[in-house]
Amino acid sequence: MKSIVIEKPDTLVLAERPIPEPAAGDVRVKVKLAGICGSDSHIYRGHNPFAKYPRVIGHEFFGVIDAVGEGVSHARVGERVSVDPVISCGHCYPCSIGKPNVCTSLVVLGVHRDGGFSEYAVVPAKNAFTIPDAIADKHAVMVEPFTIAANVTGQVNPTENDIALIYGAGPMGLTTVQALKGVYNVKEVIVADRIDERLEMAKESGADWVINNGQQSLQDFLDEKGLKPTLIVDAACHPSILQEAISLASPAARIVLMGFSSDPCQIVQQGITGKELSIYSSRLNANKFPVVIGWLEKGLIDPDKLVTHTFNYHHVTDAIELFEKDQRHCCKVLLTFSE
Ligand code: NAI
Ligand code: MN
Ligand code: ZN
Repeated sequence: MKSIVIEKPDTLVLAERPIPEPAAGDVRVKVKLAGICGSDSHIYRGHNPFAKYPRVIGHEFFGVIDAVGEGVSHARVGERVSVDPVISCGHCYPCSIGKPNVCTSLVVLGVHRDGGFSEYAVVPAKNAFTIPDAIADKHAVMVEPFTIAANVTGQVNPTENDIALIYGAGPMGLTTVQALKGVYNVKEVIVADRIDERLEMAKESGADWVINNGQQSLQDFLDEKGLKPTLIVDAACHPSILQEAISLASPAARIVLMGFSSDPCQIVQQGITGKELSIYSSRLNANKFPVVIGWLEKGLIDPDKLVTHTFNYHHVTDAIELFEKDQRHCCKVLLTFSE
């Protein structure tokens, strides 16, 4: 089989590898579609501190089970599945309180262990979630990015009275907008980004207000419209954003961070305690695959609004380069592995 392997930083090869046999408790997935994410490009470029090389990248993938290991029901062969990349131990403290996404021995497919940019991938059976027939392949491949939004919203229980401000209209900002509008029916969703084309996409995903905060002060914009954010999500992840969010927030607001920057940021305590703000963070997803599959079944979200390009996996280098260079026209890029 062919696998997309990052042999070392900046070296991507389409390698010929033996088709893997599923071990006990595993299933083998014949991959149909996969999505390119920022973290795939970070591993490719050597910017992910967790990555070990060589590595088959890809943590957003969908396919059909074509073999099962010992202890897994043969009835699962032929099942259409989306794969949760989060593998956890099940008994450490975070696992015991329902946060397997920060398991003390966390393994993420495509990062710590070979992932889904391959004709076949072997994964734990419990990570392979059945996709109902009513959900199209091109939607099933988008479950993982929406689980990130489900994890964010799951931390803060949005309500219809919320005024939400999202920083960043990349895939993460857009999935969050769709969840806030489509699932929680939040009253006002404001999206800030520096790229007008992405702000257009935010409108298509349901944003009520968009602002180019590279050209206009966000503070002035919110004051002018009389909007005081009660829920702020940082899906742009620049270290300077937290302090700005603290000052823009309504008293009693919640702020969710998604970034992994190792640069320090300066924040003022008084701004947080004076308004009794709650600050959350969100990493990957904690058991959110069933949640998002439910959203898709009910038609509450529309992944098509994020997908701008689809390439055959043989053209993965072109696909990643486009994804990295053209944020104006490019959002989610899919790779096809088999029909
Ligand atoms: P992306 O790079 O496609 O989107 C980020 C957007 O933020 C861009 O459109 C950019 O123009 C905009 N932006 C940058 N600085 C800004 C600022 N100061 N104000 C407003 N907008 C600004 O990235 P993607 O895939 O949407 O991911 C967003 C972030 O989320 C990344 O930093 C990524 O590392 C992080 N992430 C976190 C995850 C988690 O589980 N916590 C999972 C996936 C991504
Ligand atoms: Mn991803
Ligand atoms: Zn654990």
